[in-house]
Amino acid sequence: MNSNLITGQDESTVTVDLGDRSYPIHVGTEATGRFAAALDHTLGDLTHALVIHDAAVDNWAGDLAREIRNVANRVDIVSVASGEPSKSIKQFESLLDWMLQCGADRRSVVIAVGGGVIGDLAGFVAASFARGVRFVQVPTTLLAMVDSSVGGKTGINLTGAKNMVGAFWQPHLVWVDTSAMKTLPHRSYISGLAEVIKYGVIDDASFFADLESNAQALVDREPNVLRHAIEQSCLSKARVVGEDERETSGRRAILNYGHTFAHAIEATAGYGALLHGEAVAIGMQMAASLAIQLGLCEPSLLERQTKLLSQCQLPITFPDADVEAMLPVMMRDKKVAHGKLRFILPTKIGSVELVGDVDPAHVRTAIKAHV
Ligand code: GLY
Repeated sequence: MNSNLITGQDESTVTVDLGDRSYPIHVGTEATGRFAAALDHTLGDLTHALVIHDAAVDNWAGDLAREIRNVANRVDIVSVASGEPSKSIKQFESLLDWMLQCGADRRSVVIAVGGGVIGDLAGFVAASFARGVRFVQVPTTLLAMVDSSVGGKTGINLTGAKNMVGAFWQPHLVWVDTSAMKTLPHRSYISGLAEVIKYGVIDDASFFADLESNAQALVDREPNVLRHAIEQSCLSKARVVGEDERETSGRRAILNYGHTFAHAIEATAGYGALLHGEAVAIGMQMAASLAIQLGLCEPSLLERQTKLLSQCQLPITFPDADVEAMLPVMMRDKKVAHGKLRFILPTKIGSVELVGDVDPAHVRTAIKAHV
């Protein structure tokens, strides 16, 4: 329900169904030449586009900007340094000033070209300028294609508090071009596969089985396998977001499978030591072990997950885990209710549930099972 996939020969569209805020996720290959027409078709009245892009994708963003000039009266473009430090109040303020200097108004459109950092930052700029202008996501990392560019979570960090300031601001279009993968570094690409595998575990058993059959092709970025993986991931994400846009019913929280452990790993290992997807892979292992301890699922789930993560070259253990440092971080997680640890845990491949009031002793054992 709430989302659908229309497949053409070398492109497809997944719809995020949010009533009058519904939007398409376009998934294609070598699609830059079709971007301007899609923008024009989706937005209708494109007068002024402001492209905010990651410095790592200068050429990609420049090509898109040239295309946009075919349909917009004015196009401005700005480059932002790669990396998490750009999700700061200072960078946010400087982009708002830049928009003002460019003469932006309520009819302007912000176009984010980059990974999760740029999408979150530019999205929050779009949500804030003139109380909100239209926004388009052009994700260029696998992680952004399958997760952060879809669903409208935007924001920046405060010192020591990730994503603490932000807004739900849905894009009007998400434009995924798998050709961007050609220049993505191996480690970043592999890291994105963790979120792809996550969708199989939380939502779609037959997709998980597809991934098992095609693990090597996926690692090799075989175009058809990659496109199918992105489409199915976006379909799962669109379905979940369509059911619980603002994470109020608990449904959207299933997307955080493995993430409570992952955030604690990232925080205690020092941000940057592990890529987010790497931490998520290890976190999914810990969550599956916790589920087995609590009698929620069979050990075979962990065996299948371990095999698939390993075949996709993702880490499955964290030898440097500091259990006693991780627990307090987990207690501060957004999913902690009244001081009680809660987790998204699998019951079988394709299905998870929110489990409350978990005994910290079980959590310690689950962490130690993967060091
Ligand atoms: N990445 C989790 C969410 O979008 O809700």
